[in-house]
Amino acid sequence: MSASVVHRHFLLLAVALVALAMTLLLPTGAEDTILGHKCGMPAAGNASSDAYRSNLNALAAILVAGARANGSAVGAVGAPPDAAYGVALCRGDFTSDACARGLGDALHSAVNDSESAFGCGRQVRDVTLFYDRYQLRLSGVDFLSGDEPRWAGNNTNFVAPADAAQRFDGLVKELVTTIAAIAAERPDRYATGRSRFEEQRLTLYGLVQCTVDMSPERCRACLDGLISAFPATFRPSGQHGGRILVPRCTVRYETDDTFFNTANLSVDLHKPKPSKSWLWATIAVVSVLVLAASFLLHRWRKIRRKRELARLELRRLSLAVKSVINLWRMEEGNSGFSLYDFSQMKGATNGFSIENKLGQGGFGAVYKGLLPDGLEIAVKRLGPRSLQGLLEFKNEIQLIAKLQHRSLVRLLGCCIEGEHEKILVYEYMPNKSLDLIIFDSKKGVSLDWPKRLNIINGISQGLLYLHVHSRLCVVHRDLKATNILLDSEMNPKISDFGMARIFSSSVAESNTTRIVGTHGYIAPEYASDGVCSVKSDVFSFGVLLLEIISGTMTTGSYRYDGKLYKLIAYAWLLWKAGQWQELVDRCLIGNQEYHFTMERYVHVALLCVQESADDRPAMDEVVKMLSSGEGAVLPEPKRPAYFNVRPVGTEMSASCDMSISITLSR
Ligand SMILES: *[C@@H]1O[C@H](CO)[C@@H](O)[C@H](O)[C@H]1NC(C)=O
Ligand SMILES: *[C@@H]1O[C@H](CO)[C@@H](O)[C@H](O)[C@H]1NC(C)=O
Ligand SMILES: *[C@@H]1O[C@H](CO)[C@@H](O)[C@H](O)[C@H]1NC(C)=O
Ligand SMILES: *[C@@H]1O[C@H](CO)[C@@H](O)[C@H](O)[C@H]1NC(C)=O
Ligand SMILES: *[C@@H]1O[C@H](CO)[C@@H](O)[C@H](O)[C@H]1NC(C)=O
Repeated sequence: MSASVVHRHFLLLAVALVALAMTLLLPTGAEDTILGHKCGMPAAGNASSDAYRSNLNALAAILVAGARANGSAVGAVGAPPDAAYGVALCRGDFTSDACARGLGDALHSAVNDSESAFGCGRQVRDVTLFYDRYQLRLSGVDFLSGDEPRWAGNNTNFVAPADAAQRFDGLVKELVTTIAAIAAERPDRYATGRSRFEEQRLTLYGLVQCTVDMSPERCRACLDGLISAFPATFRPSGQHGGRILVPRCTVRYETDDTFFNTANLSVDLHKPKPSKSWLWATIAVVSVLVLAASFLLHRWRKIRRKRELARLELRRLSLAVKSVINLWRMEEGNSGFSLYDFSQMKGATNGFSIENKLGQGGFGAVYKGLLPDGLEIAVKRLGPRSLQGLLEFKNEIQLIAKLQHRSLVRLLGCCIEGEHEKILVYEYMPNKSLDLIIFDSKKGVSLDWPKRLNIINGISQGLLYLHVHSRLCVVHRDLKATNILLDSEMNPKISDFGMARIFSSSVAESNTTRIVGTHGYIAPEYASDGVCSVKSDVFSFGVLLLEIISGTMTTGSYRYDGKLYKLIAYAWLLWKAGQWQELVDRCLIGNQEYHFTMERYVHVALLCVQESADDRPAMDEVVKMLSSGEGAVLPEPKRPAYFNVRPVGTEMSASCDMSISITLSR
């Protein structure tokens, strides 16, 4: 038998090891038990058994060292006819010392088995041993350079699952072909893979390996040879697993992953796709997240834009304030109107101390102040009610500052600090306000009739100026005894004029949303409908006139014919009854030469407080009437406003200087 025939024959036997691969069925630790062995041909001719054995021993050492270092090794020792050729392979996931130990034991058995190496007989010079995780072949024939044999046998030694399908072969082929291509290119010539099939509820694992000395092409050819043998080896019914092993390459597949370490798979085919419900859930979650994110983004942008706008507005305002103040400073010199610093005001009023407080008006508190140059001033700190813009405020103040009349308190200047602090500075009136004198039974005596006439005429001139001669037609809206200030010579000065303008910027007659006025002085049409005109001031003037003549308050109650009346109703009743003298302040009575003017003034006062605004005279007529001689005939006063409004409480009601403030909705 020629060497090549021996070779072929041996190979046919040797490679035909296909193991049952139900790994779970194998007992634990079965990996190192021998799966099978193949014996080759006995030595031909006069070959020396001892020489061969000695070569084998040397070869075994080479193979163990090589396999430990490189995972697999080939070697040849000696010269024919006693040369020894060998190959050893450790499975890719079982390397280095562990494998070297196993291989060493196997080689020891193969070389030193005293009887017959695995039953092959002493003369046999070709032994192949397959273990689960390593394999080796020792031969007296050089098998290393030749091609690996194609698998030609068949084997039915596999468990076939009942439901396995034809396609299974295709699936196996796909997996092992894929990893074979990978293994051939890798330096360790080793590759593993997994392939999953949802419908079949099947997961396939595959492992292929060549010895590292083989070139990629040779490795690929070796593996392809095994793979092409699969259909014949494993019948189409399909199997749980199978392997074909030849000494220099192996192919294996299983439906079970315990046969090798799956930590580093070379491929993972047919990864399960997320199921539809998962898909929908994912889509829903993603959409919700996207919606929420875009909503938040939108909100964030909106807030940012708002802040941006607010910042711009603030900058615009502060620029406006600066420019207005600059403008003001430039005009200051020639207008006789000053712009004061807030610190100046604080210093002048002792930090707006309570000791410096002169009073609290409807528009804010008034403080006495002393400027460094010795000028006494009254400082009115406006409340924060003004909704006016600064520019508008400035225009109004400048208009008001231009109103100059000896019966008007002079506005000396103003002070602005920030957006809210607005202060008006007036000349200081040492004798304070009229109410403090006329309603005081002792001080009232000091104001005799000529002085009262002077006061009344001063007020009427001041009002006339505001209504007619000022070109602005300022309606005071809050004329009352407390707003009439007296200078050192008891000349009257109207204060708080123009406040309505400053606060609401409305002109002569208008429906204002804000009503300013004081109980007892306010005209009925203004109080009830918000209609304000010069005639409302005339009404207040009439009330004031009656107060000055009588020395009593409009808010008091007065008994007539057993019933209580308000001052204006009481005055009218007395007038109708021809008893007007009853009204006159006790301290004025006695001087007959004043009789006519007193009667005339009471008459005019009653004309001013008539119910209908149309019946009331305008200020210029009032002034004419007050100064008219005895020949002039005045109309009879009609019933005054609030005639039927009866006072409540005691006859001598306490002073009631309550400011009322009504806001009408349009
Ligand atoms: C046996 O060996 C001798 C020399 O060592 C040689 O001459 C002879 O041809 C050999 N026989 C065979 C059958 O090879
Ligand atoms: C491992 O392989 C390399 C390269 O193929 C080789 O040079 C080296 O000698 C081998 N190691 C052993 C111990 O055989
Ligand atoms: C076989 O036995 C001899 C002697 O005991 C020993 O030196 C040698 O290493 C053994 N061979 C192997 C492959 O273990
Ligand atoms: C495979 O085995 C069957 C019978 O089990 C046999 O008929 C057939 O010839 C065998 N094929 C090969 C290539 O050995
Ligand atoms: C997997 O591969 C990485 C690097 O490729 C290696 O560090 C790791 O040890 C490997 N794990 C196993 C179990 O082989």
